[in-house]
Amino acid sequence: MSANQNTEKTNQSWGGRFSEPVDAFVARFTASVDFDQRLYRHDIMGSLAHANMLTRVGVLNADELKAIEDGLNAIQQEIEAGQFEWRTDLEDVHMNIEARLTERIGITGKKLHTGRSRNDQVATDIRLWLRDEIDAILAEITRLQQGLLELAEREADTIMPGFTHLQTAQPVTFGHHLLAWFEMLSRDHERLVDCRKRTNRMPLGSAALAGTTYPIDRTVTCELLGFEAISGNSLDGVSDRDFAIEFCAAASLAMMHLSRFSEELVMWASAQFNFINLPDRFCTGSSIMPQKKNPDVPELIRGKSGRVFGALTGLLTLMKGQPLAYNKDNQEDKEPLFDAADTLRDSLRAFADMVPAIEPKREFMREAARRGFSTATDLADYLVRQGLPFRDCHEIVGLAVRYGVEQNRDLAEMSLDELRQFSDKIHDDVFAVLTLEGSVNARNHIGGTAPAQVRAAVARGRALLAQR
Ligand code: ARG
Repeated sequence: MSANQNTEKTNQSWGGRFSEPVDAFVARFTASVDFDQRLYRHDIMGSLAHANMLTRVGVLNADELKAIEDGLNAIQQEIEAGQFEWRTDLEDVHMNIEARLTERIGITGKKLHTGRSRNDQVATDIRLWLRDEIDAILAEITRLQQGLLELAEREADTIMPGFTHLQTAQPVTFGHHLLAWFEMLSRDHERLVDCRKRTNRMPLGSAALAGTTYPIDRTVTCELLGFEAISGNSLDGVSDRDFAIEFCAAASLAMMHLSRFSEELVMWASAQFNFINLPDRFCTGSSIMPQKKNPDVPELIRGKSGRVFGALTGLLTLMKGQPLAYNKDNQEDKEPLFDAADTLRDSLRAFADMVPAIEPKREFMREAARRGFSTATDLADYLVRQGLPFRDCHEIVGLAVRYGVEQNRDLAEMSLDELRQFSDKIHDDVFAVLTLEGSVNARNHIGGTAPAQVRAAVARGRALLAQR
């Protein structure tokens, strides 16, 4: 059998040494084109840079470069117009595009892969893709944070109960509560900015694993592709997936935050809390219970956090114990990574749309803060200022609260005489500290809940966003 007859039956990209074609099921089983085709734009970007570099170092000539550029640009248009025929027998996005290039421009198409391997190609593609995703995600975080700042400013004076153990603890301002989410998102943003630095390093030029014998100039491709640095070791370059794991870790933390935020929205929107109204467009009804309005969007995001944690665990497990350098295992990196990025991006988008639409029910929040003895600590602090040791004050106020529970009345609703049963150090100036306003205004330091501090924190937040 001649070599020619032989390769006709096998994959045209690597069929040379094969004596029989790959089993049809194995071809489907090992193919990644169904999911990696979404890398097409970054694959073409990488190929254009590679071809340009090969031309600069004299491996390709100007005519060949022109043909490759025109061919790749035309292929990109075909893909975007939905006219590209993705073939499973060509395994992945890389070989699909290369085969089509050769179909379009002939033998020159076969020169594109000089000095390159799919191993450094795919590593480059994922990094380019993830870099763009991170940028889009960062923009959504900023949009959500802007919404939080606006709502927090509007609600700087709104009083709600603050909780520990989900029991009423002390009054806080709703603006202050919202800004807790702002802080978490700032850290998520920082983490992703940091992860982007390590994502933005170029493996291209590592070739299969050991580098290449062609006189490549990696600084050219690095600059053309906008990478910040060139990977310093070819074995590491083709096999490192730390950046993807790191992204999933940062994404998991962000989703964990969104799941907590979601849980609060779900509770607040319930009839039992009744703190907020979520506009109908973020909710759905029940097919059987006509009265229902369910907070589906936060519920779904709370649930979706699990997918992203799964991606993190999946990628760690995928990489654990892999010997150097590239292994086919790595093809399994894409679906979890894509899913984690899509899930985070969509969840942030939903939140950024939803937060400015939250309608606080200020009266109900206030009423809930008034109930539940939320100013008990303020009374204890008042007695400390009258010269009593804190532990004794704690005891005194505990007795007053017990009395209040029996009487079904809050501390602020008791008369001075009633309060003085527990300590004669209590005078009529006590009522100023027992009010909700008195309580929140007294916590007037950086990071405290006082309305003035909420406004200061909003200003700091605006300054932070302006630097991005
Ligand atoms: N589709 C492969 C992947 O996603 C591309 C690299 C394949 N390299 C190889 N030597 N089989 O990882």
